[in-house]
Amino acid sequence: MLELIHVAKKYDSPGDKQGLSVLKDITLKVEPGRSLVIVGPSGSGKSTLLNIIGALDCPTGGKVLFDGRDLAGLAETELARIRNKQIGFVFQLHHLLPQCTVLENVLVPTLADKKRSSIKEVRERAVHLLERVGLEGFLLYRPGELSGGQRQRVAVVRALINKPKLLLADEPTGSLDKDSSENIADLLVELNGSEKVTLVVVTHSLRLAERMGRVMELSDGLLKDRSRR
Ligand SMILES: Nc1ncnc2c1ncn2[C@@H]1O[C@H](COP(=O)(O)OP(=O)(O)O)[C@@H](O)[C@H]1O
Ligand SMILES: [Mg+2]
Repeated sequence: MLELIHVAKKYDSPGDKQGLSVLKDITLKVEPGRSLVIVGPSGSGKSTLLNIIGALDCPTGGKVLFDGRDLAGLAETELARIRNKQIGFVFQLHHLLPQCTVLENVLVPTLADKKRSSIKEVRERAVHLLERVGLEGFLLYRPGELSGGQRQRVAVVRALINKPKLLLADEPTGSLDKDSSENIADLLVELNGSEKVTLVVVTHSLRLAERMGRVMELSDGLLKDRSRR
């Protein structure tokens, strides 16, 4: 479902004509329903790679195929549709809207759907998912009234509301304490199974890393398999 072929990313850097080659030659195939973790030192390009996978950023070399389609060949409206419908994102900071309730935050990604015929269905899915993550009692709370772990669970539910094929998480437990981190790790693993969503996670958490199907390490612009077989 996702394929990177000789992907490279170079940033211009002032005072350096060569530029900064963050990703040099990344070839990777992710099959539907699988889980993959990317580890690597800070600054090694993990976020850059995840943003390219999620069509938030373009590579400067190579190709990204999503369901066999070359992302570089798609119009911006089609890319926006893929980002909204097929891909869910969870970041280190939850990016919830502070003035909206938990339920409203989860429904934000559904607002772009012009049909809006299925509003009742979507609401039911939101409530169901919030129950699944143990937040049934918090639907009308605002983010400021929740713990960090609870907020991140809301962010995970929001990422899943449009039934994406691919869930991308960039250090989702990076700003949480140990218990909340383990909780989010359990949740991601469980949702990978039950929602059949393909999962690509960047993390420093060994506990999360060791529960993913495949472990890859990014260093010197290259991705190496670290999975134990
Ligand atoms: N928009 C950008 N412009 C220039 N350099 C960038 C940009 N984004 C990231 N970088 C650089 O690319 C490198 C990798 O960054 P990043 O992908 O955030 O790494 P990681 O997520 O592994 O910490 C860093 O040296 C960073 O400074
Ligand atoms: Mg990063």
